[in-house]
Amino acid sequence: MSSTPLDYVHRFVPAHAAAKDAPTLLLLHGTGGDENDLLQLGPLLAPGAALLSPRGKVLEQGMARFFRRLAQGVFDEEDIKRRSGELASFVARAATFYDFDAARVIAVGFSNGANIAASLLLLHPDTLAGAVLFHAMTPLAPQPLPDLRGRPALLTAGRADPLVPGAESERLAKLLERAGAEVTLAWQPGGHTLTQAEIATAAVWLRERGW
Ligand code: MLT
Repeated sequence: MSSTPLDYVHRFVPAHAAAKDAPTLLLLHGTGGDENDLLQLGPLLAPGAALLSPRGKVLEQGMARFFRRLAQGVFDEEDIKRRSGELASFVARAATFYDFDAARVIAVGFSNGANIAASLLLLHPDTLAGAVLFHAMTPLAPQPLPDLRGRPALLTAGRADPLVPGAESERLAKLLERAGAEVTLAWQPGGHTLTQAEIATAAVWLRERGW
C-alpha cells in the first residue's frame, strides 16, 4: 500500500449513514495482532461509529507491533517518537481520503496499541479527541507536557496483570492528569486480557461523553 496516500495496511468501516456526528474509532491492536482484531469492538463501544484499524508496521519475530521494544516493557523511545509521527500523519491523511471528521477521532488501544495511543496523546494531541487505553503502560514522558484539557482518557487495568504492574497504570494516569486530561482509571481483577466488563465500562464512558 506504500504507493497510496495511506501507507499502513488497514481496514476502514464507514460510519452508519443514520449515525450523524458519529466519531471515528482508531483501533490499535496488541503485539501479534492485526487490523482485524478489534473491529468487533466497534459496534459494542460506539454503535454506528466509523472504524479505522491499521496494522502496526514493526515486526518482532513475525509479530506486528506499533513500535520497537528492547525487552518486555523496555521501549525504544526514538522509535516511539518516529512511529507516533507516522501514525498521526496516517490518521490525518485517512480523514481526507475517507472523509471523516479529524476532530472526532478516539483511539481505542489494547496493550501495545494502548501504548502507542498514549504516545499519540502525549506527542500529537491534536490527532485525538480522547482515548480508551486497555492495559497501557507509560510509553514516554515528554517535557514539556502537552495540553490535554478537553481530551479525556479512560484507562482500564488488571490487578493481576503480569505485564503491566499496577504502579505503571497509576503512573500513566497521573502523567495524563498532569497534562490536563480528565482521566478515569478503572480496575478489574484479571490479568493481561480484555474482558467483557472493560468493554462495557468503555461503552458507558464513551456514551457519557456524547460519543
Ligand atoms: C509493549 O511492548 O507495548 C507492552 O509491553 C505490551 C506488549 O506486550 O505488547
